[in-house]
Amino acid sequence: MAVITIASHKGGVGKSTLAFHLAAVLSFLDDSEGQVLVIDGDENRSVLGWASKNETDSLPFKVVTLATQAKWFQAGNRATHIIVDTQARPSRDDLREIIGDSDLLIIPTPAQSLSIDTLPLFLADLRALGVTTPYTFLLTLVDSRTKDAVAAREYLRSMNVPLLDGQIRLFNAFQKAADQGVLVRDARAENGKRDRNAGVAWNDCMGVGKEVWEIIEQMKEEPNG
Ligand SMILES: Nc1ncnc2c1ncn2[C@@H]1O[C@H](COP(=O)(O)OP(=O)(O)O)[C@@H](O)[C@H]1O
Ligand SMILES: [Mg+2]
Repeated sequence: MAVITIASHKGGVGKSTLAFHLAAVLSFLDDSEGQVLVIDGDENRSVLGWASKNETDSLPFKVVTLATQAKWFQAGNRATHIIVDTQARPSRDDLREIIGDSDLLIIPTPAQSLSIDTLPLFLADLRALGVTTPYTFLLTLVDSRTKDAVAAREYLRSMNVPLLDGQIRLFNAFQKAADQGVLVRDARAENGKRDRNAGVAWNDCMGVGKEVWEIIEQMKEEPNG
């Protein structure tokens, strides 16, 4: 079992969207018994809200809050992987608590705001905590009409910051999926048909999910590495 925490120094960067879709991809890749669990640790309750809009009960994962997770486990449920979604701008103490028990920390970051924002501060916080939890950045809300993602990758490399190869591009389908309580691959347009970018948006999620899966598998082989 791996605990994957999604945290960021900013709000609206796609944390909850990632939690929702990463949980789905991991559950599709996992053939063991038990469930992928999302712990919605954000007071906005985005993930819980989206999941509760799902009318057909078609999501391949469960969502609990920090308050209800104990009950879920007490009921005898078993989680194969746990994704923890968090609120924006965690304090240093929050951050320590959040990632202390995690196996992997993923930090979604929009490419276009990288060099000007609070990233260096966040990195300093991470390093100051001395946490040994592996972490990696992920580019989100990537506008492929621009070169932002290329510049962001160069910037992060220059800062010696780990970054996933995959990225999540900017697609309205994500917003629709959230409104409809479905995975982005099932997002529908106003006319009721499948959103025309649902497939490519889902591919981004699959790419990122598989990469994270590989990292988790690697960790199993080298538990101390
Ligand atoms: N890749 C994306 N493309 C387009 N819209 C997105 C994307 N990721 C997230 N969104 C939308 O942006 C808003 C903020 O995303 P969210 O995942 O809630 O961010 P956070 O949890 O970091 O605050 C939501 O309305 C969501 O539907
Ligand atoms: Mg959120």
